[in-house]
Amino acid sequence: MTLLTALRGDLSNQKADLIIHFQFEGESAPSTVSHPSLRSALASVLKLDGFEGKSDAAVLWHSNGKHPASRYLVMGLGEGRKLSRETLWRACAAAGFRATTLKARTTGMALSTGNWHLSPEDAAEIAAGGFLHGCYRFDKYLSSPSRGAEPSELVLGMGRTDPAKIRQPLEEVRVVDRVVRLARDLVSEHPGHLHPVRMSEVATSEAKKAGVKCRVMEEAELERLGMGGMLGVSRGSEHPAVMIHLHHPPRPASRKKPRIVLVGKGVTFDTGGISLKQPDGMEAMKADMSGAAAVLATLLALPGLKVEMEVHGLLMMVENMPDGRAIRPGDILRIFNGKTVEIKSTDAEGRLILADGLSWACKTIRPDYLVDLATLTGACMVALGPGCTGVMGNNDAFVKKVLEAAGDAAERMWQLPLLPEYREHIQSDVADVKNSGIRYGGAITAGLFLQEFVKPSVAWAHLDIAGPAFFESGYGYAPKGATGHGVRTLLRLIRALA
Ligand code: BES
Ligand code: MN
Ligand code: ZN
Repeated sequence: MTLLTALRGDLSNQKADLIIHFQFEGESAPSTVSHPSLRSALASVLKLDGFEGKSDAAVLWHSNGKHPASRYLVMGLGEGRKLSRETLWRACAAAGFRATTLKARTTGMALSTGNWHLSPEDAAEIAAGGFLHGCYRFDKYLSSPSRGAEPSELVLGMGRTDPAKIRQPLEEVRVVDRVVRLARDLVSEHPGHLHPVRMSEVATSEAKKAGVKCRVMEEAELERLGMGGMLGVSRGSEHPAVMIHLHHPPRPASRKKPRIVLVGKGVTFDTGGISLKQPDGMEAMKADMSGAAAVLATLLALPGLKVEMEVHGLLMMVENMPDGRAIRPGDILRIFNGKTVEIKSTDAEGRLILADGLSWACKTIRPDYLVDLATLTGACMVALGPGCTGVMGNNDAFVKKVLEAAGDAAERMWQLPLLPEYREHIQSDVADVKNSGIRYGGAITAGLFLQEFVKPSVAWAHLDIAGPAFFESGYGYAPKGATGHGVRTLLRLIRALA
């Protein structure tokens, strides 16, 4: 675990294995390098390397014992006027990734918040959070983990800012990083191990440690409640379905504060069922429980962040397998709220389990706000690419809050419209609705399907995280694999509503 600390000053005299500085376009050396000999040495190296401070560019320099730190890493931040949280986050995650690959033990990062249009607290939070995010590796199954070692220490040079002001933000970074790691570990875990019941064991023990209430609803109870979506999807699997209900705080701190429910898609493996998927890349479908992992992680962070609002998390856990008992195209299922669904494709399973979760939440918890997170459609990835979440909802003001939270958290999200005229794409001849429409606008018809199961008076947002939950190829700063996407946005959102 990397120790986080903050110091006054620019780290000129800091001994370390690696010190990170940032540079904008148009600068000859980072503004945080004040020591004259280091500054001129760095400036000439940067010039030789043709480094112009562009975002995503970086230069690593070995000082050969002539300066306090053995290595210096300069990260470009692009145009100073345009510095966004996203750019800073990316640069810091790339730096953490690099530091880990280099096996640097002691590291430092010089922040110059004077010209960053960010408060020192926000800058420190993004810098340290991004750095730790970049350090993460999933290597528990490697006999010899060769992809680096996480630094033991990161010191933030805070310039003229009193380091005491940074203590609280750094503690929060620690809490958030811990749960995001858990989400990433769960998503990366192999699907033979992480089936629905295993997820309920993890949730139960983690919730107990964190002080979050957790109740596991097993198949007999789901049957009694009439959760036809959950039971239908899991029919072809050896592993029973479970719905996990997390609750913070166990007793509402204030009755007047709004109540929010988060629902996560938890398909521990999605073969497509009888509508079997193409084999190519199917292993990535172990990540089809990323929504549930993000919801679990979010709930676990709430006590540590001292959030006082009442928050519920519902993890809808199933495995989607083909089998003699599996549901077929043409079958009709009845969802918790009584609506019937004609199955067009057993591969459009996520919306079936979410339908049970959303309608159960509206009826029994009666929330003010309702958010679902789901790796729901390939169509959303076609629309927005692999790095961006599609946000839909029944209340534009609430969708706007979600997008603001995402911007603050440096997570990419973009709104897609729930065009009412597309509802006819999912009109069934034999049931109230069918679970798949035409190819075009597939992310939107999935959203319209879910809307059928949300009470109109509840402000609801649907986050299709199919792309950013899991990278099938790496993005500079982010290695291949699970990202924990959504957790930081949800935590920002909850704290904005509380
Ligand atoms: N889990 C998939 C969506 C997905 C695809 C997530 C790629 C991440 C990466 C989902 O259950 C699914 O199979 N959706 C279908 C829906 C279709 C049958 C209407 C899809 O997107 O093809
Ligand atoms: Mn599917
Ligand atoms: Zn799926």
